[in-house]
Amino acid sequence: MYDSGKIIPGLLIFVLFVTIPIWYNRGTAQAVPEIVLPKDVESCVLPLAAIRSDHMKLLMTWRDDVLRDGDRSTFEIEGKQYQKSLTLTCLQCHANKEQFCDPCHTYVAVRQPNCWDCHFAPVE
Ligand code: HEC
Ligand code: HEC
Ligand code: HEC
Repeated sequence: MYDSGKIIPGLLIFVLFVTIPIWYNRGTAQAVPEIVLPKDVESCVLPLAAIRSDHMKLLMTWRDDVLRDGDRSTFEIEGKQYQKSLTLTCLQCHANKEQFCDPCHTYVAVRQPNCWDCHFAPVE
């Protein structure tokens, strides 16, 4: 004979137990964001560790080069020429900022950069 009076509470306790990690992390940790990386290229404008930590500095350097010094010289990655440009370069490879830039900024809880007030993000 089944003793449903024990099985059902037992099942509930089991479910609670296996989902403890979820409850435990509520409000304290978020799932690491899924960022979509480009499929057709291997490398970024800087090595991975460097672009991760320094992409904002690089963007500011490019902006100053272009706006203050009028330096629009191009550079080469994997045989292709790129400009010093937020939209024409970064977003050429990272085509969807909502699947790349935004989720990571949300995750690390930096305030979203205001660049998009003026710069046009291609696919939205
Ligand atoms: C030629 C294509 C290309 C261009 C242009 C490019 N990226 Fe990347 N980017 C990549 C690829 C490919 C990766 C993944 C590299 C790897 O896994 O080693 C990447 C990685 C990154 C990462 C790290 C993601 C992670 O997993 O932590 C950031 C941040 C980033 N890019 C920002 C930028 C910014 C900002 C620009 C413009 C200044 C830019 N990228 C321009 C192709 C590009
Ligand atoms: C893998 C995570 C990651 C990705 C992807 C990423 N960023 Fe960032 N970004 C950061 C972090 C972390 C900071 C804050 C760094 C700091 O505060 O020193 C930051 C800061 C910035 C800032 C400076 C914000 C400010 O107001 O000071 C800019 C601009 C920026 N990111 C642009 C971009 C752009 C454009 C993309 C997409 C092409 C991008 N980032 C993708 C992690 C990321
Ligand atoms: C108030 C408007 C405004 C804001 C906000 C702004 N920019 Fe710009 N930015 C401009 C203008 C205008 C240019 C000149 C475009 C040109 O001459 O090609 C420019 C040029 C640039 C350039 C070089 C040219 C190019 O095509 O990208 C970079 C890189 C750049 N900005 C990065 C940024 C980043 C990163 C942010 C956010 C942290 C940002 N800008 C925020 C107006 C703005």
